[in-house]
Amino acid sequence: IDIKALRGVTGGVTTIDPGYKNTGSCESGITFLDGEKGILRYRGYSIEELAEKADFLEVAYLLIFGELPTTEQLDTFHSDIKKHAVVDDDVKKILDAFPKTAHPMGVLSSLTSALTAFNPTSVNVDSEEEMYNAIVRILGKFPVLVAWTMRKVKGLPLDYGDSSLGYVENILKMMFKQPNEEYTQNPILVNALDKLLILHADHEQNCSTSTVRIVGSSHAGLFASLSAGISALWGPLHGGANQAVLEMLEAIKEDGGDTKKYMGKAKDKEDPFRLMGFGHRVYKNFDPRAKIIKVAADEVLGDLGIEDPILEIAKGLEQEALNDDYFVKRKLYPNVDFYSGIIYRGMGIPTEMFTVMFALGRLPGWISQWREMRLRKEPIGRPRQVYVGENHRPFVDINKR
Ligand code: ACO
Repeated sequence: IDIKALRGVTGGVTTIDPGYKNTGSCESGITFLDGEKGILRYRGYSIEELAEKADFLEVAYLLIFGELPTTEQLDTFHSDIKKHAVVDDDVKKILDAFPKTAHPMGVLSSLTSALTAFNPTSVNVDSEEEMYNAIVRILGKFPVLVAWTMRKVKGLPLDYGDSSLGYVENILKMMFKQPNEEYTQNPILVNALDKLLILHADHEQNCSTSTVRIVGSSHAGLFASLSAGISALWGPLHGGANQAVLEMLEAIKEDGGDTKKYMGKAKDKEDPFRLMGFGHRVYKNFDPRAKIIKVAADEVLGDLGIEDPILEIAKGLEQEALNDDYFVKRKLYPNVDFYSGIIYRGMGIPTEMFTVMFALGRLPGWISQWREMRLRKEPIGRPRQVYVGENHRPFVDINKR
């Protein structure tokens, strides 16, 4: 198909495709996904190999710039990010003004948008160099916002961590360092977080990524586009599923651990309950990320010496679903978020922070999609509709209605 030629085509027939189930919104060279075969690749590299051999920053570089970095390229990238890993002191005041009960996703989305005010040069970016500067800025500042959002939930004083550490190591330190205590890195946690972030790093034109691209297509700045993406990710049918999964598993445990009862509720069309963490718009066989995460959950909890009854309930539900006609017929399998919450919980991350952790992982994906969209000079996103409202009718004065 000559996509460029299609750009000039407007008018004529309007197709309607609720939920865009069969509509491609763009050409993209970033992520390849085959839902039938359960294949996921970033820039041609399989997710299994990347999760095993790469670290998160390397994957971020790969997604954004298209190739795995050399050591020198990675060092330069990291040191450019570190130069921007501080936020204006007034951002602290904004964070302080939120009630302690504010949902961390709302806080993160607001702070990300607020960063625009303190980094005005990141708004009107056209050249590759301007884009690069905006990208390293947000890659530096975003982990600070994530860590501080969690510290606020936990009532801990804000901390900048240690810039001599690796990207993921420093995120952990910023999140977990206790006041007046030496912080010791736990390699198990570093490895687990690296894996989780890599597995979440991109997933082609999902709800939040499409949001980032469409907001960015109006040439709103990168930070504003990302803030919109964070809001899109928040919902329980998308990234918010990881929080919803854990809340569901806890509810099942509190209710005596009767997984069959909840399987029944999920199948009952009169009951709004859905088995959270099951089903996916694109994967209709298995989610390759869920396979990797399930093993990682076992490893991490084992290494940390945690025996979590929630993990057993999760495994039980998975087994039942695999042997249940309703789930088999509709090709509903555990997705990436079915097991991620169990790992985050083992790491000591509060449940309401889970979707924030997803956003942290998805950041390079959103950035790469935004950059690709801008470099390809894509037109503003503007879907049409099929109008089903009233025909033309005369105005009725207020005293006659
Ligand atoms: N539990 C029970 N039934 C389900 C579930 C579920 N989790 N998911 C889908 N179904 C059923 C639907 O009721 C529908 O049944 P029907 O054909 O009898 O009407 C059928 O399966 C198809 O479901 P749709 O909602 O049409 O599928 P869609 O592709 O629109 O939705 C989605 C995909 C949103 C992921 C859905 O499966 C869901 O709500 N899952 C639970 C939430 C979740 O885990 N979201 C995270 C997705 S992964 C991510 O964003 C990282």
